[in-house]
Amino acid sequence: MSKIAIFGYGTIGSGVAEVLNKKREHIKKQAGEEIEVKYVLDLRDFPGDPVEEILVHDVNVILNDPEVDIVVEVMGGVHPAYEYVKSALLAGKSAVTSNKALVAACGPELLKIARERNLNFQFEASVGGGIPIVRPLEDALTAGDASGIYGILNGTTNYMLTKMFDDEMSYEDALAQAQALGYAERDPSADVEGFDACRKIAILASVASGQFVDYQEIPTRGIVGITQEDMALADLLGYGIKLIGSFSREDGKNYAEVTPMLVPFDHALYPVKDVYNGILVDGDINGAIMFYGSGAGKLPTAGAVVADVIDITKNAGRTVQAGYSEEKLPLADLSAKKRAFYVRVNGVSAENDEKARAFASSFGADSYTEIESGTYAFITEPMTRAAVDQLCANVAGSCNVIPVIG
Ligand code: HSE
Repeated sequence: MSKIAIFGYGTIGSGVAEVLNKKREHIKKQAGEEIEVKYVLDLRDFPGDPVEEILVHDVNVILNDPEVDIVVEVMGGVHPAYEYVKSALLAGKSAVTSNKALVAACGPELLKIARERNLNFQFEASVGGGIPIVRPLEDALTAGDASGIYGILNGTTNYMLTKMFDDEMSYEDALAQAQALGYAERDPSADVEGFDACRKIAILASVASGQFVDYQEIPTRGIVGITQEDMALADLLGYGIKLIGSFSREDGKNYAEVTPMLVPFDHALYPVKDVYNGILVDGDINGAIMFYGSGAGKLPTAGAVVADVIDITKNAGRTVQAGYSEEKLPLADLSAKKRAFYVRVNGVSAENDEKARAFASSFGADSYTEIESGTYAFITEPMTRAAVDQLCANVAGSCNVIPVIG
C-alpha cells in the first residue's frame, strides 16, 4: 500500500480525495497497489467532514512520517508550497503538484532534488487542468522536436473572448459574467493580464526544450484593451481573437510569448471556445497534434493529479520523468521576427478611401476592412514589429497591433 498526504483541502485537494475514494479499486489495479490518503494538511478545520480524522495543521507530522511516500501539493502560490515540497523531497518523498506558480518559479530546483534522490516531482495538472500535455511532451512525443507550441491555456479569458466574439458582449460585461460564474476572481488580473498563461507556457516550453524557460523573461500581454471593435473587424477579416501562449523554434532561435492573436477560421485552435483549453503541438516528426479539453475544474484537475500519483507509485524507487535542466534557455527578441500583424487604426476614419488604402498598402496590405464607426483594420505582410511601429508612427491617430498566429 502506498500512503500519501494532501497539502491543501480546497477544490482540487478535496477532488483528489474524492477521486481516490470513488475509483479505489480501479486505481489499485492501475497502480499495482492500493493508494491511501494518510493525512490532509490544512490550516482550517472541517467539522463534520470525514477528512477530520486525518486532518493535521502541522506539516512536520507528515514530513517526519516515514510511511508517507508521496505528497500532493494543491495549496497554490509559491510560499509556503515551495518550502513544504522541498522539505518533503529532502525527506525522501516524491511530490505531485497542480501549482503552476510553484513549478514556473522553482521547477528546476525541485526537479534536481528529486532526480538526485531517485524520486519524482510531477506536475501534469499545472497546465491544461485535465488535458494530458506535460507527459506527452516528455514521453510520447520525444522522438522528434517540438518546433512550435501554441496554446489557449487560460479558460477564463477564453470564455470572455468567446462571449465578446459570439455574443457581441463588451469586455466589461464578459468579465462580469465570468466573475458571476466563478471563472474569474474578484481581482481578475492573473487571468486577464496573461500572467496565468505566461507561467503555463513557460512550463511547457521548459519541458519541450529540456531547459528552464524563465516565465519572467516571456513578453506577456493579456486581453485588456481588446475591444468589441477588434472582434468585429477580425471577424470581417476572417479571424477570431484568442489569448495564445506560444513557444516556437526557428533558425536556432527560441521564441516565447503570451499575447492575443488573430486565429483564422480554419485553424485548429479557432473552434476552442468557452472555458475550454486547446494546445497545438507542431513537431518535425509527429506533425501537428491537437490537445483539447477542460483546462480547469475540480475532477478533471484532480484526475491529472491522481494519474501522477499512480505513475509514481508504479515506478517507486526511480525517477521516471525527463524533466528539464536548471540551465536557462535563451529567448530571442520577438520584435525582430517577421510575421503578419493585424493593425486597427483608431481616430482616423477610413472615409478618405484613398488615404486609408495608401496607409494599408504601406504595410503590404492590398485592402482594408471598415466598421460602422469608421474604424478600419488590415492584415500586414510578414514584417517585424519594429517596422510596424515605425509605420504606425506616421498615422494621425493610433494603431492597435495584434500578431496573427504563425
Ligand atoms: N484561472 C485559470 C483559468 C484556472 O482560467 O484557466 C486554471 O489554471
